[in-house]
Amino acid sequence: SPNRTYRIAVIAGDGIGTEVMSEGLKVLGRAAERFGFRLETQEFDFASAEYWTKHGRMLPEDWFETLSGFDAIYFGAVGWPDVVPDHISLWGSLLQFRRGFDQYVNLRPVKLLPGVPGPLRGREPGDIDFLVVRENTEGEYSSIGGKMFEGTDRETVVQETVMTRTGIDRILRFAYEQAQRRGGRLTSATKSNGISITMPYWDERVAEMGESFPEIEVDKFHIDILAAQFVLHPDWFDVVVASNLFGDILSDLGPACTGTIGVAPSANINPTGELPSLFEPVHGSAPDIAGQGIANPVGQIWAGAMMLDFLGEAQAAEAVTTAFETVLESGETMTPDLGGSARCEELGTAIAQAVDAA
Ligand code: NAI
Ligand code: MG
Repeated sequence: SPNRTYRIAVIAGDGIGTEVMSEGLKVLGRAAERFGFRLETQEFDFASAEYWTKHGRMLPEDWFETLSGFDAIYFGAVGWPDVVPDHISLWGSLLQFRRGFDQYVNLRPVKLLPGVPGPLRGREPGDIDFLVVRENTEGEYSSIGGKMFEGTDRETVVQETVMTRTGIDRILRFAYEQAQRRGGRLTSATKSNGISITMPYWDERVAEMGESFPEIEVDKFHIDILAAQFVLHPDWFDVVVASNLFGDILSDLGPACTGTIGVAPSANINPTGELPSLFEPVHGSAPDIAGQGIANPVGQIWAGAMMLDFLGEAQAAEAVTTAFETVLESGETMTPDLGGSARCEELGTAIAQAVDAA
């Protein structure tokens, strides 16, 4: 935006979502001050168990109109299984946003951070730094199919994979552009040896789109060996693009290779900018630790950095990232999941202060 004012819908949700959201807003507020832009935030109480208890639904009927004018949605976590079954809380809120706002890119950075113990032996910060780009609207997760001869020996179920040229090309273009921006390579997840119609078509589109990006080196791996290489050679990757199902698996496997779930962020993006994109930590509402003030706020804060980057405030995004990396590296203010005894609020405050120095 020309006057650098961004309208942000803030939806904290349930459990630790509300705790980490306060820290996310604290850090983003500091970044805005330092880099001279404005975040006009508006908080909403829907997409939570409390709202469901009061209204019998997860969202107001006019949620689309209410949210569609915002520049972005900053989201905490939704889910409180003692009160609302998880399929209702998820389908009734987050998945509505993803579909309604056509957020066709799911983006997950995979980066080994200083001070965060990872499960892979011998890997240092800097060794692992890549992006998983998942197609988020079609592919294997379609609703085309059906059931026949139910309850008989011939009981039959069919579910079709749906891949469209529009759908594939728009995710590939986004992935190539990310590779271009990072000066890196693109890796495509395929399975054209086993899935003989849709996956060869995916490969064909990857090659065709590559003609518009001649400077980007592309390789492809079958999904099974690609999953193995995430663990064995995570240093090989810059940007990895995948269909909905393959991307779902890789976008959990990737962050798992770099340590605690408390630090992992995720973005659901509609690159056209015509409808809002959504930025959230990967973790859920963590009922087991909710209310104790000990959640790790880094996933929420990092998601905030991704939001700033998407809004065009790359310098501020970089400063926020540097800030949490510096604080984690010093190891002085660590939440219990990182082996320390700091509270959520203390880690958030330390990172906010570090934004000034970053
Ligand atoms: P979860 O991510 O909430 O928790 C898994 C484990 O990781 C728990 O032991 C928790 O204490 C720990 N953990 C998670 N985030 C942490 C943080 N920031 N700092 C320290 N420890 C953290 O997943 P779970 O338990 O499977 O689901 C709980 C609820 O959250 C369910 O209702 C589920 O549907 C919902 N959920 C929502 C998501 C979302 O809003 N995008 C994503 C995943 C789950
Ligand atoms: Mg998943």
